Amino acid sequence: MMIIKDLTVRKSVLRFVVVVGLVCVFGLSVYAQKPVSRFSPGEEWYDTNGDLINAHGGGVIYDNGKYYWFGEKRGRHASEGVNVYSSTDLYNWKYESLALSQDKDTTSDITIGCVMERPKVIYNPSTKKYVMWFHLELKGKGYSAARAGVAVSDKITGPFKFIRSFRPNGNMSRDMTLFVDKDGSAYHIYSSRENYDLRIAKLTNDFLDVTAEDKMLFSNHREAPAIFQQDNKYYMITSGCTGWAPNKAVLHTATSVWGPWEASKVNPMSGPGADTTFGGQSTYILPVQAKNNAYIFLADRWNPRNLKDSRHLWLPIRFRDGLPIVEWADKWTLDNF
Ligand code: GAL
Repeated sequence: MMIIKDLTVRKSVLRFVVVVGLVCVFGLSVYAQKPVSRFSPGEEWYDTNGDLINAHGGGVIYDNGKYYWFGEKRGRHASEGVNVYSSTDLYNWKYESLALSQDKDTTSDITIGCVMERPKVIYNPSTKKYVMWFHLELKGKGYSAARAGVAVSDKITGPFKFIRSFRPNGNMSRDMTLFVDKDGSAYHIYSSRENYDLRIAKLTNDFLDVTAEDKMLFSNHREAPAIFQQDNKYYMITSGCTGWAPNKAVLHTATSVWGPWEASKVNPMSGPGADTTFGGQSTYILPVQAKNNAYIFLADRWNPRNLKDSRHLWLPIRFRDGLPIVEWADKWTLDNF
């Protein structure tokens, strides 16, 4: 072994090692945080720390000048709670926190090992609280519990406090979304009766529970509802029920959130892979701020062998002959609107 006796040589070797170390650390982190300026549907999407964005079956809300993306935190298979990220431009996302964690208490409905899916968050202006609803399956019971879970927080980034889980008005509740209408009323839209029925329930004024106003919208064996409203029309995209495997989307339209909802004959997806929703499954439709008639379709391209690496498909919605169409694009920017 070579022993460096000369003090000045030792000092310069040390300085060299420190400099190389700093270049590596900062060089890598600068690389990891390189800003993104376009959407690349289906490719790996990293947060500003350089980690894969782990927010699946999610939804986005806009609050005080920022977008917040809530979604399932997944391990290879496990459900690990709900993550939240923030962004000002929709391309670059900063990891904020684990907004809702599973509980170490084995008597809790959300004890570690439960399954939390499709979390959606809305703001209640009268209570000034952020309210999260999600699909909950109890630990060790497969998909048989079919419940809705509710959690609440004073701060958008959480931590959210779990309140309880239940079947809305006694109905099974699996895939779901939340929707706030023009008049401020909020709704839970959910797949019920082994996913054969799609139902809607109006929420109470504090958004923490359902009212008895609860109705079946249609019975077409659909799930993964994503809804938006424009010019007095309501649009809903759903998937068929084939588990993690992709299938063909269907668009329903209505003039009231209560229906009647009419199934469109036109496939709302267009481009290569349209018949399997480009290998994905709907989760949310996001109105872009400060742009008119600009909506982004959010879907998950599930990877059941490694759910954490399920890819995000964010695609622009265009109107063609009065109907919203999601057109495939390998790369695109908000200037496309
Ligand atoms: C899908 C559902 C997903 C997940 C999956 C499990 O039908 O949309 O959220 O529950 O089944 O197989």
